[in-house]
Parts: sequence; structure tokens; C-alpha cells
Amino acid sequence: MAKKTIRDVELKGKKVLVRVDFNVPMDKKTREITDDNRIVQALPTIQYIIDQGGKAILFSHLGKVEKEEDKEKNSLRPVAKRLSELLNKEVVFVPVTRGKELEDAIYNLKEGDVLLFENTRFEDLDGKKESKNNPELGAYWASLGDVFVNDAFGTAHRAHASNVGIATHLECVSGFLMEKEIKFIGGAVDNPVHPYVAILGGAKVSDKITVIENLLDKADKVLVGGGMMFTFLKAQGYNIGKSLCEDDRLEFAKGLLEKAQGKLVLPVDTVVAKEFNNNAPHRVAKIDDIKEDEMGLDIGPETVKLFADALVGAKTVVWNGPRGVFEMPNFAKGTIGVCEAIANLEGAVTIIGGGDSAAAAIQLGYADRFTHISTGGGASLEFLEGKTLPGVAAIADK
Ligand code: 3PG
Repeated sequence: MAKKTIRDVELKGKKVLVRVDFNVPMDKKTREITDDNRIVQALPTIQYIIDQGGKAILFSHLGKVEKEEDKEKNSLRPVAKRLSELLNKEVVFVPVTRGKELEDAIYNLKEGDVLLFENTRFEDLDGKKESKNNPELGAYWASLGDVFVNDAFGTAHRAHASNVGIATHLECVSGFLMEKEIKFIGGAVDNPVHPYVAILGGAKVSDKITVIENLLDKADKVLVGGGMMFTFLKAQGYNIGKSLCEDDRLEFAKGLLEKAQGKLVLPVDTVVAKEFNNNAPHRVAKIDDIKEDEMGLDIGPETVKLFADALVGAKTVVWNGPRGVFEMPNFAKGTIGVCEAIANLEGAVTIIGGGDSAAAAIQLGYADRFTHISTGGGASLEFLEGKTLPGVAAIADK
């Protein structure tokens, strides 16, 4: 269903409430932002509001705020600073989430000004008002603006006061990032161009049960890597040594393999070591040659080739979950090989959905070579599971 966007509303002179997802990773000690991708991805919406003469009132959650001491380390102040650098313009930071100080700051905004107020989850200290979508809080925040733009795809799987709550009082339209996420991830779920190849990884089968089932229905092939591959390999009767395995999911994995009728493609070799350590001696082993004291930490070169061949001709590719322990250079080759194979596809829509795979692609230097890298972790996973995201459902239909 087509959703209203920021292009559909008048912004000039308006107080524009914008829910962004600035839940960015920060260094625990220095509070320096270690990855500003979510801020960068929100810039087109913010710049558009500035250019149209709107007054941008931004807000976001950051981390979890369960006790008073959590406030300092989860303040959005460093984010305001980074945003100001990226926009090359002053960003008014308001260190509260409600009250006179915030209301006065909004009143003083001029056309084209940008304001960011403090972490919406500070409201969780008082009865989890934000996270439990307290109606009074949603109504209060809605009362601060004339227009409501939701650009926080990363939070769309949550029904919180700052997205769904506000939308019950003020019509909600999507920002450009939200629009892009719905177009690409929603498109891959609802209307993919075939051949459609899904690449799944990550540590556990149990985290991805619904996503695997949904993708098996929709995709033409599902290539399995990451830690979860060993549960499937053990289900097929292979000895997987000390590799990661969920024994309570073996029956489920067996059932899926039967149901998949060849759609699930499993690795044929793996890089094994005796320890979970980048410097541990390692070797490539065929999957029927893993020793008792070895664990698989990456897919092997033959598997990279097998997956690259399976990708040839694909028109839609969705990747969720790294192939191996990509953070350790000696076990990153599988993830790099698959990144390369996807990046070289011609005429395909290539989408990375999910926190770890997005981090892998960005860290390994492939950020510009995919059609879309989602800013959502849990949100993109739930979208790929075929679930309705409350934050998306709350955006007005066209
Ligand atoms: C995310 O990082 O996935 C989103 O910002 C949501 O954060 P949450 O899991 O703390 O709600």
C-alpha cells in the first residue's frame, strides 16, 4: 500500500516533528560515535525540511534508559554535535523531553532551523511512558508540532509513544529514508523480481526461524552460511566438531531441508580452527572432514564459488547475516567473497537487511556497491519475516 510522504505535505513555516532513529553505536568510554550511518541516512529528510522553510524538531531514542545513571551515557548531545557538523549548520540541542524549556525553544525556531531534543527513552524512567506508548505522552509530543514525519525505520517494529503514539493525534507521513526502506525491503517481501536469491547467516537458527520460512516461500534459492549452517549440516548427519550448533533445533532444520526441496543451498567447505581466535592456526576443511576438536568459523573457497554461481542471473538479492566471523580478518574471506559476488551482479536489486551484515558490508568497504543497505536491525528482520511493522502501519496511506 502506497504511503504518504513528506512530499505530500506543506512544510513552509510549519513546526515539523521528525522521529529519526539516531540510536547509533558509541564508544563506551569516550562517548564518541563509532558509526554515524543512521545520522547520515536521515540527512536528505532534514535538508528537505530546511530547504522548504520548515522548522525541524527532531527526536530519537538512544539505548535503554532504565535507571537515572543511564541518562548520562545515553544523552543525544554528541549526536546533536555530529548532526551539526554533517549539516554544516547549528543544531539547537534541548536537554529535556518535555516542559517549558522545550516549548520555548520550539517557539523561538525560525524557518529552516533544526532542533534535537533529548532521548525519548528518558521518559521510560517514569513508568516506561515512551516504550509503553503512554497516550498522554504521545498527545503531548503531537501538540508540539503541525506536521509529523516518521523517518525512523530502525524503530518501526516498536509501537512507542514517539512513533505510533504521536500518529494517533497528528497525521503521519514518511520521510525519505523510511520511504526507501519500505520500497526496497517491503518490495523484496511483497513483490520481488525473480530470480530471487536470499542469503542467510548469523549465529542461530532460532533467531531466524520465521525469516527462513518466509524466504523459503518467496525466494528461488536460500544460501545458508554463518554459525547457523552447522545446525543444518549436523541435521544432515555431518560431524561438525566444536562448531556452533543448536541441538534443540535439529528436528526443525531437518523439516526445513525436506520442505525446501533443494532450495536451501548449504556450504560444502569451511575454515576451521581449534580456538575462537583470529590468530589460531586454521585450515580449509570439506564439510565431511571436520575433526572433533575443530570449529568452523567461515565458509570455504569452494562454497564462495558455489554461492557466486547460485547468484548468477539473480534479479533480487537479500542478504541477512554474515557468512563467518567477519570481525576476525582470518575468517572474513567468505563474507568478502559473497559481498564481491553480490556487488558484481548486473541489473539486480541488492539489499542488505540487518545490523551485522550492514556492519560487515560497510566495514569491508562495500557500502556503495549495494542498491540499499537497511538502517534497521530488528525492524528489517521483522519486515523480512512478513510481519506488519506498527511504525509503518501508522503512516497515512495515500
Ligand atoms: C535498533 O537499533 O534496532 C533500533 O534503534 C531499535 O532499538 P531497540 O531494540 O533498543 O528498540
